[in-house]
Amino acid sequence: MSKLSVDHLLSIENLKKKDIELIFKTADNFKRIINQPIKKVPTLRDITIANLFFENSTRTRLSFELAEKRLSADVVNFSSSSSSVVKGETLIDTVNNILSMKVDMVVMRHPNPGAAEFLSRNVNASIVNAGDGAHEHPTQALLDSFSIRDKLGKVEGKKVVIIGDILHSRVALSNFHCLQKLGAEVRVCGPSTLMPKYLDSLNVKHFTDIKEAMSWCDVANVLRIQLERQDVNYFPSLREYAMIYGVNKKLLDSLEKQIVVMHPGPINRGVELSSDVADSDHSIILDQVENGVAIRMAVIYLLAANLKK
Ligand code: NCD
Repeated sequence: MSKLSVDHLLSIENLKKKDIELIFKTADNFKRIINQPIKKVPTLRDITIANLFFENSTRTRLSFELAEKRLSADVVNFSSSSSSVVKGETLIDTVNNILSMKVDMVVMRHPNPGAAEFLSRNVNASIVNAGDGAHEHPTQALLDSFSIRDKLGKVEGKKVVIIGDILHSRVALSNFHCLQKLGAEVRVCGPSTLMPKYLDSLNVKHFTDIKEAMSWCDVANVLRIQLERQDVNYFPSLREYAMIYGVNKKLLDSLEKQIVVMHPGPINRGVELSSDVADSDHSIILDQVENGVAIRMAVIYLLAANLKK
């Protein structure tokens, strides 16, 4: 297969395993290119991409922009960090703006789940979801699985535990779909109050004991406690969370094997992850960032090939 089965990247749920494998194969090539002295290819010189960020982002926004520029696309950026985005209204505005700007592709992060899908049904452009509320963050899951494949040779058969605030995490849901499609076994660990109801339907088991979870897994993907989304108190205090669920060197040293530690960033150092682990040779956090650019180049390149001009 040399073409994606989709015209938009809205979720991992609607991707096929073959799509993910094609994205990884394409990203392997782009990773080689971005590690050469000349990091740029002229491939997308006739393509215009709009990056619309209605929510804060550092890594994801920079990573998409770099990926687009390394493919020689024309890029326009819009960011609004306003938290009072009114449902519907802003998106309709956005739609009208995009229609008149004649862009080919839109990369959008938005606080409302389903926003990217809504856009894809109303705009004549290819849409890439860069995170829609607590729903999905497909390129993050792709770069996470790609990084596991890089580090451990394959994803199939690996045991991955996702630790922390699953309830508010789009990274978690996209990771469940991606890891399961690639044949990994995925479980979660954290306080029951931070676990979503859908876990059973995805057949994702839950550890409440961090030591047990760490002894089981090959890879621990540690998530940020999403302080900005905690509308009620889900646990007594950050100090207590760090004591019970924090991943630190003492915990890793107590295991009989070496495990791989990941984090999508931004890290709350000293809460979900201690600095001596984040900066240790267990951690592939900076590899994830590097791989993110290659994965996003691959996604944009493959979607551009499906554009109906
Ligand atoms: C994640 C996000 O924004 O969903 N970060 C990211 O994209 N690198 C996770 C988070 O905010 O904790």
